[in-house]
Amino acid sequence: MSLRDKIIYILEKNRGGFVSGQSIAESAGVSRSAVAKCVSQLKAEGFPIVSVNNAGHMLEKNCDILSESGIRASMDGFGGLIKVLKIVDSTNSEAKRMIADGLSETAIIAAETQSAGRGRRGRSFFSPSKSGIYFSAVLHPDITLEDAASITAAAAVAVADSIKSATKKDPKIKWVNDIFIDGKKVCGILTEAISDFESGTVQAIVVGIGVNLTTGEFPEEISAVAGSVDENLNRCALIADIFSRLSALCSELPDKRFMNDYRNYSLVLGKPVTFTRNGVTYSAVANSITDGGELEVTTDSGETMLLNSGEISIKLSDRL
Ligand code: BTN
Repeated sequence: MSLRDKIIYILEKNRGGFVSGQSIAESAGVSRSAVAKCVSQLKAEGFPIVSVNNAGHMLEKNCDILSESGIRASMDGFGGLIKVLKIVDSTNSEAKRMIADGLSETAIIAAETQSAGRGRRGRSFFSPSKSGIYFSAVLHPDITLEDAASITAAAAVAVADSIKSATKKDPKIKWVNDIFIDGKKVCGILTEAISDFESGTVQAIVVGIGVNLTTGEFPEEISAVAGSVDENLNRCALIADIFSRLSALCSELPDKRFMNDYRNYSLVLGKPVTFTRNGVTYSAVANSITDGGELEVTTDSGETMLLNSGEISIKLSDRL
């Protein structure tokens, strides 16, 4: 870790509280004047640090700068790679490039903004700076390709749990993996696997997560659906929390225990929905979600169908 990163780490660990220049110098193994010089540089970069004689330096509680050390300070014991970029086309694309270049460890790739954020089904993901979190978790779980498919549901549970514990909001999961609050989509998840089809093994999984925190205005084409969590959360801590929850849930992938939470968060169960299959549009009621993530519906004509997320997307219907 560079001196700059060490100082951000120490200040982040003590966010909202003073740390003496002497103790920072001792922890970082440098002189107090080296600490003072680096703190001045951080202030010049925009870090809201207050320095007071005899008290030391304090990172303000509401600091909103995304940094590697800020994320690491919120996740004790994480030994993987954390990379934070000011701008990137897509954190998922960056993660896949890094994997192609040999990245073999667990990693978090985050960006302040994405110039070509990607969503499911070839859609784009609106990623303005300062108002959201956009990151990709690179995982190397020892699982089959089949179990890998459930990681998206695990990620949706991780995000919903995280938002629920950090706010007073009531997040819901709209099948398959969009997080809604008060009827608006506040988070999207795009999972991509790098796998060997011949052996059925997974080399790496990239779970891309975008959460709108305070975004106020959206492009017209998504403005009816998109919304924000509408709370000023510590973005470094939120990324760390979602990642930690997702990593913990990965151990449940083979037995799918998290699917009960997934069903409890569901926005669609028991509700009327519409969907189109092979060019035919159906009205139905959503009955249940299988451990494999399929949605079981009963159509208006009484037929029971299992819908696969890769194949079909549903709309919540206006019918009561
Ligand atoms: C969707 O809503 O269809 C999925 C959106 C996924 C967006 C996230 S933001 C971080 C990561 N990088 C991307 O390009 N996409 C995902």
